[in-house]
Amino acid sequence: MTILEVQQYKRERKKLVVVTAYDALFAGIVEQAGIRVILVGDSLGVVVQGKANTLSVTMEDMLYHTKLVAGAAPRALVIGDMPFMSYQVSTEEAVRNAGRLLQAGAAAVKLEGGAVMADRVKAMTSLGIPVVGHLGMTPQSVHSLGGYKVQGKVEDHAAKLLDDARALEAAGAFALVLEAIPAELARRVTQALSISTIGIGAGPHCDGQVLVLYDLLGLFDTFVPKFVKTYAHLKTDALQALSRYKEEVEQGRFPSDSESYH
Ligand code: KIV
Repeated sequence: MTILEVQQYKRERKKLVVVTAYDALFAGIVEQAGIRVILVGDSLGVVVQGKANTLSVTMEDMLYHTKLVAGAAPRALVIGDMPFMSYQVSTEEAVRNAGRLLQAGAAAVKLEGGAVMADRVKAMTSLGIPVVGHLGMTPQSVHSLGGYKVQGKVEDHAAKLLDDARALEAAGAFALVLEAIPAELARRVTQALSISTIGIGAGPHCDGQVLVLYDLLGLFDTFVPKFVKTYAHLKTDALQALSRYKEEVEQGRFPSDSESYH
């Protein structure tokens, strides 16, 4: 999958399917399932590292996980998420860190924020680093947003979000994640832009959809937002498998003759 194909999807009104992955095993499964865009999200801070938010994720963490995913899914478009404080301080630092993610195997980077990030996006895209924007509920701003809340519900905020989306498009972003905003606002943004919108908690009118892999597989249940659809119950399966294993070892039923060498 290439950026050009993503642009073609928008023109042909084909839905873009995106999912997160953080390691080689799951990246391989995602690719085998025919999903062609993988986001190595900084959500790994929560679902892999067990933190309350994404703020402590480092560039080193993102480089490590991006390498694992890109190595295992060579045909997918891998997007590396820029962690908190890897792009906020200066354009120079932002470009350097984005370049490191591409060197680790990503084909594009994602960063949070609107017009205020336009200079970063412009610098990256003019140097050949494709960028995905991220608006709405931006998890790296969890403290200033006062928690994980739906954004853009009042007209002023909605208009600001639309302006931010236009600024990112003008700066050269090729796609935009819209997180936790009203479906009607996502429809307006999607219609106003020539670049792809990728929704998560943004209703059905976006050009594409992204979900956190462990949410959709039913592995992560500490906090399940309304917008998550659980397509499997792997945590339940894992718990059942592990308690059967424990029971069989304790009762001397595993290993049996068939699992033994002779
Ligand atoms: O980090 C992440 O996984 C994300 C998605 C939720 C869009 O940013």
